[in-house]
Amino acid sequence: DMAEKGGYDHFMLKEIHEQPQVLRDTLREIKAIQQVVDEIREIKRICFVACGTSYHAALVGKYLFESILHIPTDAIIASEFQYTANALDEETLTIFITQSGETADTLNALRAANKKSKTLAIVNVLGSTATREADHVIYTRAGPEIGVAATKTYISQLACIYMLAATIGQKPDIIEDLRKLPEEMEKILEKDELIKDIAKTYKDESDFLFIGRGFSYPTALEGALKLKEITYIHAEAYASGELKHGPIALIEKGTPVVAIAPPPLFLKSEVHGDKEFRNSHTLTLSNVKEVKSRGAEVIGLGSEDDEEFKKNTSDYISFNPSIREEISPILYIIPLQLLAYYISVMKGEDPDHPRNLAKCVTVV
Ligand code: G6P
Repeated sequence: DMAEKGGYDHFMLKEIHEQPQVLRDTLREIKAIQQVVDEIREIKRICFVACGTSYHAALVGKYLFESILHIPTDAIIASEFQYTANALDEETLTIFITQSGETADTLNALRAANKKSKTLAIVNVLGSTATREADHVIYTRAGPEIGVAATKTYISQLACIYMLAATIGQKPDIIEDLRKLPEEMEKILEKDELIKDIAKTYKDESDFLFIGRGFSYPTALEGALKLKEITYIHAEAYASGELKHGPIALIEKGTPVVAIAPPPLFLKSEVHGDKEFRNSHTLTLSNVKEVKSRGAEVIGLGSEDDEEFKKNTSDYISFNPSIREEISPILYIIPLQLLAYYISVMKGEDPDHPRNLAKCVTVV
């Protein structure tokens, strides 16, 4: 058993540590992705569909395709697809993201979309149902994932989505950014002791809030999902700007708030002007100050040179300043996976086999 886990206590920890290699392996799929893009052509609209962690990858896809490529893009929860997706046509590419390729809600949506649009499935398990039924397939090269809570497959899904965007939008700089990440991941994985200390501090809390804007909003959602899945602590994720519309009422003295604020993306936007994009960071920082002044303990994830952010937090996980917002989802999720893992273990739970959850849900 220990041998299968490669010397790690759990599969989840092993799989978290495999992520730099998984990213390197997935990056080799660039030629296969180029081929798929050549086959598809003429896309006016994209619709991502998925469940669970795969849905969070889909949401990153929406931010990426809309902000950088200016292609109208939706991200839809597969079980909701039948109620909303009526506007598909031949110029829409519907992209299904699924680790297993067998999730019932996702397959149902795929079957419906096949009738009206071009379909592409991004799948980890070779030969699974989704790979047989979609028009086009891209494989995430994560290898078998045993832990029920998805970790390394999320990284490989994100890598495929970024490579797809780079190829469709002819933006080789995105690929250059991806190539820098495995090394940065290794540096984050070395922060094990810091993350264990943070886990120890907050393991007995009953509620967590995760906040982020733009590309960091999906990271907040995925961080909160990991915590719920394996520690059974109640966690909610909010787009930082929504705090004032409700969740700020929950903040009490000592409430842990995980705030994700990488260095901001700079983009010219015809719709919003330059300023809006630069503001993602400034605005999250002002949210951090608001929750702090109401007694929250802020756990910050940001750049190592961000003194302003650091001084408003109780704990701070720092990243290379060159990793900006638009690429950050692939890196910033890693300490949140580790945080959930260590809290789970410290509470005496089994992170590989969370109660009530299955690796693959084949019923609707
Ligand atoms: C289950 C798993 C999750 C996974 C989700 C979607 O809920 O426990 O880890 O994200 O299904 O699975 P899929 O195989 O479609 O990505």
